[in-house]
Amino acid sequence: MVKIGLLYDQLRPDERLIIEAAKSNGVDLTLCDTNELALDLTDANNSFNVADVFLQRCVSYFRSIHITATLEAQGKNVINSFKAASICGNKLLTSICLSRAKIPTPHTYVAFTQESSLHALEQIGYPAILKPVVGSWGRLVAIIKDSESARSIIEAHEYMHPIQQVYYIQEKIKRPNRDIRCFVIGERAVAAMYRHAPSDEWRTNTARGGVAESLLVTPELEELSIRAAQAVGGGAFGVDLMETESGLVVHEVNHTTEFKNIVRVTHADIPRLLLEYTLQQAKK
Ligand SMILES: Nc1ncnc2c1ncn2[C@@H]1O[C@H](COP(=O)(O)OP(=O)(O)O)[C@@H](O)[C@H]1O
Ligand SMILES: [Mg+2]
Repeated sequence: MVKIGLLYDQLRPDERLIIEAAKSNGVDLTLCDTNELALDLTDANNSFNVADVFLQRCVSYFRSIHITATLEAQGKNVINSFKAASICGNKLLTSICLSRAKIPTPHTYVAFTQESSLHALEQIGYPAILKPVVGSWGRLVAIIKDSESARSIIEAHEYMHPIQQVYYIQEKIKRPNRDIRCFVIGERAVAAMYRHAPSDEWRTNTARGGVAESLLVTPELEELSIRAAQAVGGGAFGVDLMETESGLVVHEVNHTTEFKNIVRVTHADIPRLLLEYTLQQAKK
């Protein structure tokens, strides 16, 4: 029987749903607490042999990609792959992939100094959005209303970690007070939801109080979401999209996506589908 290793750093409700799904579907799941992990990088004997295939669920991006890289080097399959996870965990790399695949995505610049960022902002037009290239839950995603606020926001970033001085500057999409999350597993868009921004917040992340509402997967949504998933290398993803007057745009592809809210509102059995997909990948 194929054994799945569940790699985690915290057991969130999402990982608990995976554990329950494994129990009720007779899947052999081994819990791998990465807090206790010490992997030998020069090990030729492949001794970390606790499972045939791994489901990567670490919250920490840096921890997850380093573990995934190590396990892949030992010949293991990990969902998601190192390639897909490292692209999705970095908004600039994701934008490059979406753009090369001709998937509609917001107009975005990268700049590295205050002056060149101001130039980029002039090109994009105010209000614009500044995002950390590595980050999630809407953290540090900021609206820049004019050149004065740009100067002060970017000045503050100059005192942060160097990764915060990669200025990822994006047009602010004129969208309704919501965005769309579509969950893709392999070649299927399995569920979708709107995320409505709460009254005191423009960002729609459920981590910031965004309210989930079930949404039917339309052919346009399905096609774009699957293409976005393929563009970053394929696997299991939460694709984030916004509605514009000229159709949908994809602004993010998430790689260790939380799914408790989409499961709650759509009743899609994402934990089971994730396990099934992971088992299929073991056989490859
Ligand atoms: N270009 C944009 N125009 C309008 N709203 C945006 C734009 N980009 C992001 N947002 C809003 O900000 C939220 C967080 O941005 P996102 O790029 O998804 O970063 P995170 O990884 O932190 O979730 C989105 O869910 C959306 O509500
Ligand atoms: Mg997002």
